[in-house]
Amino acid sequence: MMVGEAPGAEEDARGEPFVGQAGKLLDNMLAALDMNRRDNVYIANVLKCRPPGNRDPRPDEAAQCRGYLERQIELVSPALIVAVGRIAAQNLLGTDTALARLRGKVHALAPGGWPLVVTYHPAYLLRSPAEKRKAWQDLSFARQVYDRLQNGERVLP
Ligand code: URA
Repeated sequence: MMVGEAPGAEEDARGEPFVGQAGKLLDNMLAALDMNRRDNVYIANVLKCRPPGNRDPRPDEAAQCRGYLERQIELVSPALIVAVGRIAAQNLLGTDTALARLRGKVHALAPGGWPLVVTYHPAYLLRSPAEKRKAWQDLSFARQVYDRLQNGERVLP
């Protein structure tokens, strides 16, 4: 399962997450891992509607949508959650630690203790293509963690 920040204009109009330019890159990132949203990846957002003017979600807005997201996670029961971008990662983990410091390790997402890893947001990667190498490292790490989970291995201390 991948969790982004909030719908953009196109997502809001279509009622589907990640369908714009950033969504195309996200689909390519998934394809590189031999995964796709039709068969094995569910995509959701922290916020369920678009913040006015595309501004960052406010903490009270994220808090209002949290129950909805937690129910989605429960229903999907994902092997692994990938938080996409700083806002999603910080929101989900309840931290203000920089994304760079959250990368490369497995976190436990409360209240279910779901394994969670983080990566950069595809919209950021479109603006900063030099960072794609790091995103690739993150996705390879996510794939490794996922494979270990599928083999019944523990990934959390
Ligand atoms: N960015 C997000 O975080 N989510 C979307 O659905 C689209 C763009």
